[in-house]
Amino acid sequence: MCGIVAYLGGRESAPVVIKGLKRLEYRGYDSSGVAVVDPEQGMKIFKKKGKVADLENVLKNETFYANIAIGHTRWATHGEPNDVNAHPHLSNSGRFSLVHNGIIENYNSLKQVLINKGYTFSSQTDTEVLVNFIEEVQRSGNYPLEEAVRLALKDVIGAYAIVIMDRENPNRLIGARKGSPLVIGVGQDEYFFASDATPIIEYTKEVVYLDDLEIAVVSENGLEIRNLQNEASDPQIQTVDLELEAIEKSGYDHFMLKEIFEQPRSIADCLRGRVNADEALIQLGGLRDYLGKLAKAKRIVFVACGTSWHAGLVGEYLFEELARINVEVEYASEFRYRNPIIKEGDIVIAISQSGETADTLAALELAKAKGAIILGVCNVVGSSISRVTDAGVYTHAGPEIGVASTKAFTAQVTVLSMIAIATAHKKGTITDETFRRLLIEMSDIPKKVEEILTLADEIKDISKLFTFAQNFIFLGRGLNFPVALEGALKLKEISYIHAEGYPAAEMKHGPIALIDEDMPVVFIATRDSSYEKVVSNIQEVKARKGRVIAIVSEGDTEVRKMVDFTIEVPNTHEVLQPLLTVIPLQLLSYYIAVLRGRNVDQPRNLAKSVTVE
Ligand code: M6R
Repeated sequence: MCGIVAYLGGRESAPVVIKGLKRLEYRGYDSSGVAVVDPEQGMKIFKKKGKVADLENVLKNETFYANIAIGHTRWATHGEPNDVNAHPHLSNSGRFSLVHNGIIENYNSLKQVLINKGYTFSSQTDTEVLVNFIEEVQRSGNYPLEEAVRLALKDVIGAYAIVIMDRENPNRLIGARKGSPLVIGVGQDEYFFASDATPIIEYTKEVVYLDDLEIAVVSENGLEIRNLQNEASDPQIQTVDLELEAIEKSGYDHFMLKEIFEQPRSIADCLRGRVNADEALIQLGGLRDYLGKLAKAKRIVFVACGTSWHAGLVGEYLFEELARINVEVEYASEFRYRNPIIKEGDIVIAISQSGETADTLAALELAKAKGAIILGVCNVVGSSISRVTDAGVYTHAGPEIGVASTKAFTAQVTVLSMIAIATAHKKGTITDETFRRLLIEMSDIPKKVEEILTLADEIKDISKLFTFAQNFIFLGRGLNFPVALEGALKLKEISYIHAEGYPAAEMKHGPIALIDEDMPVVFIATRDSSYEKVVSNIQEVKARKGRVIAIVSEGDTEVRKMVDFTIEVPNTHEVLQPLLTVIPLQLLSYYIAVLRGRNVDQPRNLAKSVTVE
């Protein structure tokens, strides 16, 4: 949560930072702020509740010029979203300003120490405590700022990515991280800090990913990195493989719509170089040394949150069905606070789009400490999860900016399908014939997703009739049960309609009481092993006058006769169905939310990367 951008160099800094904050708004958007040091006017701070555009309006009336700036877009943790709690925060003397992403867990005790020394606080944030704590340490020994930051952070408990700016030395920025991401852009005589590379790539593709417990100083001396033990290390410069076009809307009304329509390409990118149906080959370079261990595993545990957890549920079906391995799917936030039993040979796989979700990262670290092999399925290259895991597979979906996850989900399911199929083949639980057929079917998925996307207008028309629904139920069985959960999550997070996903047969045990003529029920009723059972469940709903939208297989005539609306998806192998059945649900949610006038890309209260627990 929260996005950080900072700049030092020859350009006018505020516009660079504001533009960068707009790119990071997916991380939080309840308030934003920027601080600059103008050589004539000194430190100036501007903060505004609302979107970065509101801050931009404030800046229009200001005259200053600076080559150094720090900025922040906030997702509130401590203190409500308002101008005062917005970052940057200033130290009592006015010398230091700081932006922060994370949570300082011992801020209350630090605050008490500072209050006893006469410090005062205007906000309710942990960040204002941190900047004053750094000031206090700096004063106590008249330390250079980087040393004060290092000493202060040794006493800090919690997670942080910070950038601090010094009014007395406006040719230097200091950044540090523990648990929250921080990337440094290295340009020609200019430097950038940001929570991810997207604000930086317009200016330079050369970046350094700061590691946990590292402090970076950028100044006329270049970039210097030390750890909290004061040991210096050489910055490892990497080139980011990301084009500007990938992080812009490119003519679509919303990033979410763009990302839904990108799925034929993102799934193809995910398969490229990995699935070769002609030669009956799957190559997952990242798992080269681990496929044997997967094939021998007695148990696999998926840890994830939200949509990624739904992908994990699909993975459970895939691994059990194809590779006959016992799988558990855990909410990372629950797993990390239990005392989970990990046995020798257990494999824990984290699934995460961002690779930064705090609970998923912590769950992985716990699993590692207990001796599990830890693997990752991440989208963001170089993210924290991808760096702590023993091995893993990137989903290659490209940047996902809409808060509601769409193409990341299908890419995760694609990767999990590939791993399950490769494991099953190695283990001998599927025949060569099934293996070959699955590879052919996988290669055809992008084309089939493209076909479903041609139904967008039809789905839009259906959504017009449900725009004012108060509730929705999504039902599916087997592999389509997680899809039902995902459909419900998509709808509630962007339209704010209450929605529940259930296994279709479970409906009889309670939710059926909700069914009346006002209750829309979405069934995933494709022709698979549970088709007949789902048809019976549809009849149970229709008998109680529920309004049914059914996702059916191409050519289905039976369900069409019973329900109010059908949306057809092409046929594929049963285990790959979620890759197709989820697409109409994404579109349905999108159009309903747009018709309700919601901010689809930035729904209220949400942030794309949940980097606090
Ligand atoms: O980056 P991650 O995949 O770890 O994020 C997990 C969830 O926060 C995320 O999937 C969330 O549920 C999305 N808003 C769903 O659309």
